[in-house]
Amino acid sequence: MKFFLDTADLAEIRWAVQAGLIDGVTTNPSLLSKDAGDLEWGDVLKEICSLVDGPVSAEVVAVDEAGMYDEGRKLARIDDNIVVKIPMLEEGMVATRRLRSEGIKVNVTLCFSSVQCLIAAKAGATFVSPFLGRLDDIGHDGMDVIRETRQIFDNYGIETELLAASIRHPRHVVEAALIGADIATVPTSTLKRLLLHPLTDRGLDQFLNDWSKLTARTKANA
Ligand code: G3P
Repeated sequence: MKFFLDTADLAEIRWAVQAGLIDGVTTNPSLLSKDAGDLEWGDVLKEICSLVDGPVSAEVVAVDEAGMYDEGRKLARIDDNIVVKIPMLEEGMVATRRLRSEGIKVNVTLCFSSVQCLIAAKAGATFVSPFLGRLDDIGHDGMDVIRETRQIFDNYGIETELLAASIRHPRHVVEAALIGADIATVPTSTLKRLLLHPLTDRGLDQFLNDWSKLTARTKANA
């Protein structure tokens, strides 16, 4: 399974790249607004692309077809790694088609049902992003969308990559991986939680404790 980091925080991205844990990055207007600081958002995207050897999603903010297409083309000029994020809208599907016909990669975002994912794939999306956590938040089971979409894509040999988004906890990652989502995009806090287990901490404490007993004994016998 590929991991993307769902952030626009450069320090977090640097850490994850150094650790070899990520295959790409996803941003959105909220993340850029939160993480850009004093930097210009275009420069942040450029910097992210220089750090990561993989797809970097950057979202349009227009909601009309011509606007999404124009913004998408501008975003794609920032770097070859840019993937244009287009919201799941009627006009967004036309923009997706046009951008794809020019070889620009598209991630259709804000998907909340498997049929939306199918439609996005039909329009030519390179990636589709169903939002698990936000569905869970309103009492649905977000994982159903991943399960159904995987099955539909497999039934028809659809090559659009299934990108599980709005991931909130390690269990989301495990279940999405079991179902066969191609990618999970995770916030840094969740990525770091994937490393944790209380028995790891307890085991390490015990090893270090036993080791200091051994060294104390060796010193006493010297
Ligand atoms: O990038 C889109 C997505 O992952 C958003 O997650 O936590 O804001 O629902 P969240």
